[in-house]
Amino acid sequence: MLAIEKASHVMPWSATTLSSCFQEHYHVYGWFCDNDPNQLLGFYIAHQVGDELTLMNIAVHPASQGQGIGRALMQHLLELARQYHASIWLEVRASNSSAQRLYSSLQFTEVGKRPNYYPLAEGREDAIVMHRVADD
Ligand SMILES: CC(C)(COP(=O)(O)OP(=O)(O)OC[C@H]1O[C@@H](n2cnc3c(N)ncnc32)[C@H](O)[C@@H]1OP(=O)(O)O)[C@@H](O)C(=O)NCCC(=O)NCCS
Repeated sequence: MLAIEKASHVMPWSATTLSSCFQEHYHVYGWFCDNDPNQLLGFYIAHQVGDELTLMNIAVHPASQGQGIGRALMQHLLELARQYHASIWLEVRASNSSAQRLYSSLQFTEVGKRPNYYPLAEGREDAIVMHRVADD
């Protein structure tokens, strides 16, 4: 997970932060290579409080991006949300248009903005807050 994290994110989480998600109220799922079940290609981490899920992290190794893995991970999260009758919240960098396109295509809508939320190598950028209502 750490290798994928470092390769795919502008400001990657540390090993300690990733490890801290392996506890109650967190859902951590990975997507493994068909030919090598030991090779992790992507993962997501969601935190649950009651009937609300928050997508904390999703990443696919750059070498495996654009092949439908991110969408498949999100479909898994939607299935989890259905199971718990939960809505889903997430935050995404304003500059991350490919992730925003993915979320919009799965009926997430922009519900707010956190100005200067994310650090950049130089300066900061806004977070777009997105929400998907629970399925009936
Ligand atoms: C966002 C991310 C998880 C998507 O994973 P992926 O496996 O590349 O995505 P998919 O191949 O399933 O594509 C899903 C959709 O994302 C969008 N997308 C993916 N790559 C894109 C690109 N290069 N340009 C534009 N849109 C893109 C498209 O809407 C695509 O839909 P389509 O399949 O109908 O074309 C992946 O790009 C990633 O790990 N990015 C770095 C980490 C990150 O930004 N995480 C999100 C933090 S909020």
